[in-house]
Amino acid sequence: MVPRRMSLTNKTEFRGSENSGALEDQETLSYPEELTHLLDGYLEELDYGEDASVSPLSEAMQYSLLAGGKRIRPVLLMATGQAFGREPAGMLPTAAALEMIHTYSLIHDDLPAFDDDELRRGKPTCHVKFGENTAILAGDALFAEAFRLICERQQGAAAILLGVIREIAVATGVNGMVGGQYLDVSGISESQPDSLKLLHSLKTGRLIMACVHCGALLAEAPGQELTNLRDFAAELGLLFQIKDDILDVVGETALLGKEAGADARLDRRTYVSVYGLEEAERLALKSRDEALEALDRVGGKTDALAGITNYIYERQS
Ligand code: IPE
Ligand code: IPE
Ligand code: MG
Ligand code: MG
Ligand code: MG
Repeated sequence: MVPRRMSLTNKTEFRGSENSGALEDQETLSYPEELTHLLDGYLEELDYGEDASVSPLSEAMQYSLLAGGKRIRPVLLMATGQAFGREPAGMLPTAAALEMIHTYSLIHDDLPAFDDDELRRGKPTCHVKFGENTAILAGDALFAEAFRLICERQQGAAAILLGVIREIAVATGVNGMVGGQYLDVSGISESQPDSLKLLHSLKTGRLIMACVHCGALLAEAPGQELTNLRDFAAELGLLFQIKDDILDVVGETALLGKEAGADARLDRRTYVSVYGLEEAERLALKSRDEALEALDRVGGKTDALAGITNYIYERQS
């Protein structure tokens, strides 16, 4: 068995091995790329059925949605469901909805009133391309259309779908992503212990947790797995944002597809500004290890989730 903490994106390291078992494990532990393609195909086909007079709005929505992006949230949802035996294709409406919500959050995050960024996913930001009012509405519409997609297209028992909708609503509201964005722009108190961790857990971690939770719900995973899965997702979400903070300092604009150095320009409190680069990197490693330890306590076939965790730790974009 390949230890889960081994670097998994460096495939050549494994290819040199003569042990076919290790090669097999490397295959199963790598990032589930096929889920990204599945999701991209589905997003391209989305049709909001709008009146022609509002089609420029749906053009703005699709512009940001299809601009690229790593698709980590929908992939995480489908990989979690798959770990408990559900076919990924059967979860596409909810997976796509989570990517639409994430895209809405990026459109709004880039606005002049927030981070005032002009580059996103390698392209001019939505407000630069379409104007601020259209960008605000494109974000609003993506949020609403996401819930519509789940209601109209997601197969599953009504009680399960209600659980999914509730989880996403909680994760994106005051006790989730939007609350976290508020803390980010209003400034957090330095004297309050763990305030930075709270900020990251809300603005980024909570939606990531919802992806894992909803994947488990859609696959009807045993209820007792939810606690361990949520522990895993909480660390994964923190890891994701610590890495985002690190990449803002050490990453390259061309690779990131967004302007590096935005946090320093905005004087934002991040893991790097508070702890320094070296300690932030150590804390990212700690979060990855804690995520993998929590994952070890989860039943089901979790290799793809371990692959995603390692990818998030090692990513350069
Ligand atoms: C960026 O998210 C915004 C954060 C929550 C830190 P991603 O790094 O997942 O952005 P895309 O989807 O790949 O563009
Ligand atoms: C954005 O965080 C979080 C959300 C959009 C909810 P950041 O402001 O750090 O994201 P980037 O760095 O612009 O992608
Ligand atoms: Mg921001
Ligand atoms: Mg930003
Ligand atoms: Mg950032």
